[in-house]
Amino acid sequence: MQDILEAIMAAEESSDPDRELAGVAALPVPDSYRGVVVRAEEARMFDGMAARDKDPRKALHVQEVPTPELGPGEALVAVMASAINYNTVWTSIFEPVSTFKFLQRYGRISELTRRHDLPYHVVGSDAAGVVLRTGPGVTRWAPGDEVVAHCLSVELEDAAGHDDTMLDPQQRIWGFETNFGGLAELAVVKANQLMPKPRHLTWEEAASPGLVNSTAYRQLVSHHGANMKQGDVVLIWGASGGLGGYATQMALNGGAIPVCVVSSPEKAELCRRMGAELVIDRAAEGFRFWKDEETQDPDEWRRFGERIRELTGGEDPDIVFEHPGRETFGASVYVARRGGTIVTCASTSGYQHQFDNRYLWMHLKRIIGSHFANYHEAWQANRLVALGKVHPTVSRTYPLEQTGQAAYEVHRNAHQGKVGVRCLAPTDGLGVRDGELRARHEDAINRFRGH
Ligand SMILES: NC(=O)c1ccc[n+]([C@@H]2O[C@H](COP(=O)([O-])OP(=O)(O)OC[C@H]3O[C@@H](n4cnc5c(N)ncnc54)[C@H](OP(=O)(O)O)[C@@H]3O)[C@@H](O)[C@H]2O)c1
Repeated sequence: MQDILEAIMAAEESSDPDRELAGVAALPVPDSYRGVVVRAEEARMFDGMAARDKDPRKALHVQEVPTPELGPGEALVAVMASAINYNTVWTSIFEPVSTFKFLQRYGRISELTRRHDLPYHVVGSDAAGVVLRTGPGVTRWAPGDEVVAHCLSVELEDAAGHDDTMLDPQQRIWGFETNFGGLAELAVVKANQLMPKPRHLTWEEAASPGLVNSTAYRQLVSHHGANMKQGDVVLIWGASGGLGGYATQMALNGGAIPVCVVSSPEKAELCRRMGAELVIDRAAEGFRFWKDEETQDPDEWRRFGERIRELTGGEDPDIVFEHPGRETFGASVYVARRGGTIVTCASTSGYQHQFDNRYLWMHLKRIIGSHFANYHEAWQANRLVALGKVHPTVSRTYPLEQTGQAAYEVHRNAHQGKVGVRCLAPTDGLGVRDGELRARHEDAINRFRGH
């Protein structure tokens, strides 16, 4: 592994980084590597505890695992950096189900997928790194290519997935519903998960947008999602968080008017730094949409709606960008404009939603379900980053050994933007190949740093 890292590091000072990187083709692939895993034998370790009290630091381990054989259409990547996604939080607290169930189901499909069904699960759905090897049939990528990986794993053997790859019946999220994920020194991906690494970014910056940026792109911009247009008022929950930090940037880029909801003055400030002007601090303003576990408070929906109108000059949201779920969904349906769209990709606070359907049907609103992004949407989202039109939101990074701590902070909502993880990268700041483009965007790239 050291030789591989040295070859990648040689590109740092070189006048011809591509030549240095191509050298990895001649280096042997290690038999094993360090990865962040959960263990099947510990899947019941938190039984009986409230989700909030389950501690990712206890379940996530860094351990040496065997390097899997590469199959047709796959690539082995030396991972320089990855990032924490909420799905790793779910995996590490075994909620709502243990991800070993996903691996077992995947393992039943074929000889090749059986490799994934193991008593350990290498997690992680983001990666930036260097291609080490490609499997049979891969022509587009070669050893030495600097890449990022999106997390859509599809088999594409069924007609259902050939219009929109997210509709493939064998659609899975890599590193969550498959093994050999990105929080590791090496990762196995399908080659069609690979995209060019944005050349003006460091490894940890390039790795961090992947999952959330692609998800926000489909949810908000794509015709499969809310199909946002210029002038739309977009209510964005968690606007400085993983998804929200990208949704806010896309709303501003696309000429829409984001109304950002956050829970602290510091987060409100981050939204303003991205260029948003309309911000609601839900904690400071004390919104409580539930009177108790079973009863919502429509007066609070109204107060929230009035606050939005106060900020927008009387307009209601054309689009509500939803993911907190149970706690906010009733309010989201209520405040959306007549004919508006509530687009949801998650249920962080609970997946049994309640809303007053009269506000939906009488006011002709729509609820759209959205999940990750198809290959084309992920590519478009990465392209926006590569062009310097959407910027990373890395607030801090941790070394691989402290992934548990990083996931713990995301679980406790104690983070801002994205939390990066250095896998092979010994320090932050490496991997920049286009200093000129970077210089033009340095302030925007660093907006979230240190928060
Ligand atoms: N379907 C998909 O493809 C997909 C993709 C990505 C993520 N997700 C899911 O989406 C959710 C959010 O992911 P993320 O990466 O954005 O996480 P994140 O970085 O934790 O950000 C979520 C933000 O939502 C806000 N929030 C959390 N609980 C809330 C509540 N009860 N009421 C109102 N706001 C709340 C918080 O912001 P404030 O405290 O500042 O308000 C938080 O920063 C997770 O459940 C994740 O699993 C799904």
